[in-house]
Amino acid sequence: MDSPRAALARQTAEYFRGQFKTEPHVVVTAPGRVNLIGEHTDYNDGFVLPAAIDRATAIAASPRSDRNLVIHAQNLKSTMMLSLADLTPRRTGAWSNYVAGVAHFLRRRGDNLAGANMLINSTVPRGSGLSSSAALEVAAACTFISLNGLTIPDLDVIVLCQQAENEFVGVQCGIMDQFISYLGKKNHALRIDCRSLEFLQVPIPAGVRLLICDTAVRRSLASSEYNRRREECDAGVSVLSRHLPGILKLRDVSPGDLARCESFLDQTVYRRCRHVVTENARVEDSVRTLRAGDLSAFGQLMYESHRSLRVDYEVSCRELDMVVDICMESDGVLGARMTGAGFGGSVVCCVREEAVEVLAARLARDYPAISGRQPGIHVCSLEDGVAVEPR
Ligand code: GLA
Repeated sequence: MDSPRAALARQTAEYFRGQFKTEPHVVVTAPGRVNLIGEHTDYNDGFVLPAAIDRATAIAASPRSDRNLVIHAQNLKSTMMLSLADLTPRRTGAWSNYVAGVAHFLRRRGDNLAGANMLINSTVPRGSGLSSSAALEVAAACTFISLNGLTIPDLDVIVLCQQAENEFVGVQCGIMDQFISYLGKKNHALRIDCRSLEFLQVPIPAGVRLLICDTAVRRSLASSEYNRRREECDAGVSVLSRHLPGILKLRDVSPGDLARCESFLDQTVYRRCRHVVTENARVEDSVRTLRAGDLSAFGQLMYESHRSLRVDYEVSCRELDMVVDICMESDGVLGARMTGAGFGGSVVCCVREEAVEVLAARLARDYPAISGRQPGIHVCSLEDGVAVEPR
């Protein structure tokens, strides 16, 4: 039987043939991600621990002889035509901005792009905190690179995808999502240093599974609140740098230094900073506990991370907290926390293999009863990053 990724690639090639009446020259699949710990730390130059999952966005494509991109989004049943000669962002929220932004920044590097027919097909639910946007950007970048025979270093592609989202889509995201969609590793999480962009592959010990519970709450406030959190962190750094010379970002501040400077900071800004500096420390502790196979300690760090996001960073919501509470009361669950930007989206639970079915059944029964919403429950496997299959 096909793996979910292989099945997605095969189905995407079929849709492409149906839509464009020709064979694709390449099929690219780029995974969504779950972040195990290290939330809202990437844009503070800190540490994160994400993993690529078995939900992905696929693009099948072939070159055209003109300078147009004809893009069909299978999930939305929508087709757009863009001219490579005129790549300006369309209205806010237009899905084509992700693809156009990547093409724009490739061209700005001096890379010559030919026109293309492209079909996009995704199994990453949108707005669920699993990085459907980054998966689309990475898939689009690798499609253009393959069709046009370009050679670009990995980190440059990752940074270019982030730039497309920052400057073309208008979301000031950090680098985590594009990084993990590109360089993820099967059965591993990556501990990424978001300043140096060095990374370490951290194996997930046998005997546990990751269950993702999508609350079905969509992140309507997300982009404005997200950008506001970034500003609060920067405001913290500008005050702290008067007392802690040489710091550039919250990454450079230890929990002890921050505690000593509490009285100089506005209370809200202090709490935002406290989340970031303690979360960075939790990522480092998580890597240590996972390497030592101490899953109970890792699970406790997940719960502490959720608490800090709820109380200090204020990016959780009622429904995310309900799911975490159900997990806390369930046997065999080691830890749980919201994953991604927050304000809705998903919870990631680390659960002992033998308890996973009972937890899934309990969430399916109890969460709708208390929230009135239907959860999306997915026991996921951890996969490799982007795959390019020339045909
Ligand atoms: C979103 C952004 C990431 C990161 C997370 C929060 O997923 O795209 O860069 O900031 O939120 O950790």
